[in-house]
Amino acid sequence: MERGKEEAPGKVGLIGLGAYTPDRIMTNEEWTRHVDTSDEWIRSRTGIERRRIAAEDQTTVDLAEQAALRALEDAGLPIDEIDEIIVATDTPEVYIPDTSAFLQHRLQAPNVSAFDLAGSGCAGFLQALDVARSRVLGGRQHVLVVGVELLTRLMNWKDRNTCVLFGDAAGAAVVARSSSAVEILSATAGTDGSKADVLALEMGGTRTPFSEEGARLDLHHDIVMKGREVFKEAVRRMSQAAREVLEQAGETLDRVSLVVPHQANRRIIDAVARVLGLASDKVFMNVQEFGNTGSASIPLALVQARDAGRVRTGDLVLLTSFGAGFHWGATLLQF
Ligand code: UT7
Repeated sequence: MERGKEEAPGKVGLIGLGAYTPDRIMTNEEWTRHVDTSDEWIRSRTGIERRRIAAEDQTTVDLAEQAALRALEDAGLPIDEIDEIIVATDTPEVYIPDTSAFLQHRLQAPNVSAFDLAGSGCAGFLQALDVARSRVLGGRQHVLVVGVELLTRLMNWKDRNTCVLFGDAAGAAVVARSSSAVEILSATAGTDGSKADVLALEMGGTRTPFSEEGARLDLHHDIVMKGREVFKEAVRRMSQAAREVLEQAGETLDRVSLVVPHQANRRIIDAVARVLGLASDKVFMNVQEFGNTGSASIPLALVQARDAGRVRTGDLVLLTSFGAGFHWGATLLQF
């Protein structure tokens, strides 16, 4: 993304984007060696054909670093010009401190403040983007936002209800005020905490602290998920958030060139398109290649959509997401 020569007040948005996916590809067929499943079941219920798996020696910060460096390069900015780092992840480097501390050190940015937004699952990146936007409006120059997930490391490889769904990836954006920014026209977010137990990883918190018994039962990677409930709410909330964000910006869906939804499941994406009355060529999909990559899903999809020439200068692009919490959100961009 080219950086603007002169700064135009009022235009806050993305000046750089980057994504990273690990090299190793795991097919559906490979999952049949771990759980009672089939390529046919996974494809027909989710649309997923393969996903990327981090190498054994890679950890969350390795993925985050690669995406961050690519976003910085895309923005044409050295790390010294970043004044805040926000990391959205549910699969942190360690339990305490947060991943942003590791990333700050890895990027050699000792004077940069950093924090994580954790626990909002796949909605994390859009939440972080919204926070970054307000930080820039509040006077920060350049905020680096990273969505990173190494879900295959923490999930239960014996639970077919969840393990086949996820993949590893990272995506990043630099948010700043610039005349050439991809402008964030509007952003919306919502939460329904009454559904906190519908999609959760409980062990390790104060309700269920780590214990020998819990570890013996593999509870530390026991992601509880009522799939159908998540499915229905994801469709409802992502569509609702899309409408809200358009209304906020005084825009209409027919003016939107591309919708980039969270990539959880092809059927969820198709249902959102149906509810909104969107033609399939207006919806970006890469879930078949990467599975659900949590908070990395939106930036990864956005980078791929842009690099594939799916968006042009002036286009309106709508991002919409949903995750554990339940949390959801949408963002309207103008390229
Ligand atoms: O970003 C948020 C993260 N979570 C999600 O996005 C998940 C949202 N939900 C979904 O994507 C879908 O609900 C699933 C893909 C998880 C499941 O699809 P479904 O059409 O809702 O299937 P279901 O839950 O109704 O299960 C159907 C059957 C069950 O067997 P029985 O009880 O009918 O005999 C499951 O045990 O499919 C079985 N099943 C599997 N079979 C083969 C569940 N997982 C698998 C599997 N392989 N991997």
